[in-house]
Amino acid sequence: MADRATFETIDGFIEQSLLGKDAAIEAALAANAAAGLPAIDVSRAQGAMLGLLAAATGAKRVLEIGTLGGVSTIHLARGAGEGGHVTTLELDPHHAATARANLAAAGLADRVTVIEGPALDSLLGLTGRTYDLAFIDADKGSYPAYAAACADLVRSGGLIIIDNAVRRLAIADPAEQDDDVRGTRALYDAVAGDARLQATAIQTVGTKGWDGFMLIVRR
Ligand code: SAH
Ligand code: DHB
Ligand code: MG
Repeated sequence: MADRATFETIDGFIEQSLLGKDAAIEAALAANAAAGLPAIDVSRAQGAMLGLLAAATGAKRVLEIGTLGGVSTIHLARGAGEGGHVTTLELDPHHAATARANLAAAGLADRVTVIEGPALDSLLGLTGRTYDLAFIDADKGSYPAYAAACADLVRSGGLIIIDNAVRRLAIADPAEQDDDVRGTRALYDAVAGDARLQATAIQTVGTKGWDGFMLIVRR
């Protein structure tokens, strides 16, 4: 069994050999660290995947739940391309302010709207809009509600991608009482029980040694 250091080395290899340097992402990560934000952004490899999925599906209207410092937002905004737009929802005003500064520094401010406040409230304000792609990456206990909201907001044929759909081994243990794990397990039930959603989940290892994402197509 490979250990965390091995996974970190492999992520580093993927960055260096395939993705190359990324000045905007490096600057955002440095600004996040200076601002005291937790380093729980998507990895370079995951971020590139988000951008590729947005570009490959021609997504122009993108919704993100959980902005943090805007690292994933930068990838999504790039993938949406010129003429694309990302609406991103963030609870913490300090995170939102940091993200706005990072997006401006990346030259993407005009392509992104950061909405501050609890995402469940902000989502109500988006009723009636449609999105081509949604990325969910916020408080895990609300994941079932976020998935349902995105099923309403994402157009038929659009994508919903959910970060951290794997939480250690505990996700498969019905006795696990941790709130995040329970929210994640409830997500699987909610998605499996929603006839509008067709989904799979992929385990990734990354630098934690466990992680994963759910990929959903809105029927
Ligand atoms: N997507 C980001 C990481 C997001 S971390 C990236 O990859 O770069 C999760 C974020 O969700 C945190 O910034 C946290 O403040 C935010 N969050 C937590 N609860 C929330 C809520 N109820 N509504 C909106 N955002 C929330
Ligand atoms: C962690 C990672 C995440 O992607 C996230 O959304 C929340 C927490 C973590 O590594 O703790
Ligand atoms: Mg996450």
